[in-house]
Amino acid sequence: MTMKDSQVYHIGGRKITVTRKNLQTEQENESSSASQVRPETMERITTPELANAFIEEQVQAIREQVGENGKVLLALSGGVDSSVVAALLIRAIGDRLTCVHVNHGLLRKGEPEMVIDVFRNQMNANLIYVDAVDRFLNKLRFISNPEWKRKIIGKEFINVFEEEAQKLKDVAFLAQGTIYPDIIESEKGVKAHHNVGGLPERMNMTLVEPIKFLYKDEVRVVGTALGLPDKMVYRQPFPGPGLGVRCLGAITRDRLEMVRESDAILREEFAAAGLEGKVWQYFTAIPNFKSVGVTDGKRTFAYPVIIRAINTTDAMTATVAEIPFDLLQKITARITAEVEGVNRVVFDLTPKPSGTIEWE
Ligand code: XMP
Repeated sequence: MTMKDSQVYHIGGRKITVTRKNLQTEQENESSSASQVRPETMERITTPELANAFIEEQVQAIREQVGENGKVLLALSGGVDSSVVAALLIRAIGDRLTCVHVNHGLLRKGEPEMVIDVFRNQMNANLIYVDAVDRFLNKLRFISNPEWKRKIIGKEFINVFEEEAQKLKDVAFLAQGTIYPDIIESEKGVKAHHNVGGLPERMNMTLVEPIKFLYKDEVRVVGTALGLPDKMVYRQPFPGPGLGVRCLGAITRDRLEMVRESDAILREEFAAAGLEGKVWQYFTAIPNFKSVGVTDGKRTFAYPVIIRAINTTDAMTATVAEIPFDLLQKITARITAEVEGVNRVVFDLTPKPSGTIEWE
C-alpha cells in the first residue's frame, strides 16, 4: 500500500494531520495499550508486599518498553496519580524521566513547593518547574463563564507543556497517570480517558501508563511503598482547574489570594481536629460580590468566604459532612481575622444533588 507523506482530515471541527510517522505511533500505541481490561487474575493491592511486587513488575515493564536509552516526559501536577507514576519511573529509569510541573497560579498554598521538595530535593528527579502564573491569569482576566475558564486553563496547560517538550531532545515517550476508573469512565462516555486532556493526540509520542489497571486505593498503597509522603498520597481530590473554579466569576488576584489563604486555614484546622482523611473533600470558595460588615467598630465592605465539606463514595452524589460547630466558629474567627478582604464566612449545607460539589 502506498501513502502520501501526510493526509489532512477534519474530524469534529478539528483539523488532524496524519503523517506516516504518527500513523505508526498510533498503531504502536494501540498495540502497546492493546489490553484495556484489568486481568481477572490481578490481585487487589492492599499490602506493602503486594505493592512491592507490583513495583518490581512495573519497573521491569517500563525498562522493557522504553529500552536502554529511551526518554520519557511526564506532566507532574503533584496529584497522587502523576506523583506515583513519577516515583515509579524514577525508580525504573532515573534521570531519563523529565517531569514538568506547571504552576498555573491556581494551585493550593504550598503545593508547588511540596512538588519541588519531594521530587527535586528528596528523589533527585529531573524536574522542570514552570512559573506560568502571569500567563494563565492574564488569559483568564474577564472570563466569568466556568466552562470557558476550564477550556482556557486546559488549553493553556497544553501550550505550556508542549513548549517545554519542544525544548527537549529525543523524548519519544509520554507517561500518564491514567488509572482504571479513567478507562472505565471513558468507555462509558462519562469523561475523556486522558487526564491531561488532549496531550497524547497532539504530541505524537508513545504512552507509558504503568498504573492504568489500578484503582485509587491501590495507587495510594503503591505510593506509600514508593516512599511518597502521606500528604501527597492521601491528599483529597483537587480539580485540574484548581482554585480557578473556586474563585467565582472572573478571577481577580486579590480574591484568588483570599481563597488560597482561607483554604489553607481550613485545611490546617481540619488536620488539627483529626478530620483529615475522614471528610472526603473540603475547601473554600469565594464569590464575586461584597457584603457589609463591621470590624473594630468600623463599617467594612468586603468578600464572604464559603466553606464546603462533603462526603461521598464516587462524587456522583454527596452528603454534607457534619462538622463540630465550635470548629466552624474557630475557622470563621481565623479567616475573618487573618485573610485580608474577607468579613464573613458561610457554610454550604447543600447535598449533591441539588448542588454540585464545586460551585462552578
Ligand atoms: P462536581 O462539582 O461535578 O465535582 O460535583 C465532582 C468531583 O469532580 C471534581 N471536579 C473536577 N475535577 N476537573 C477535575 O479534574 C474539573 O474541571 C472538575 N470539576 C469538578 C470536584 O472537585 C469533585 O471532586
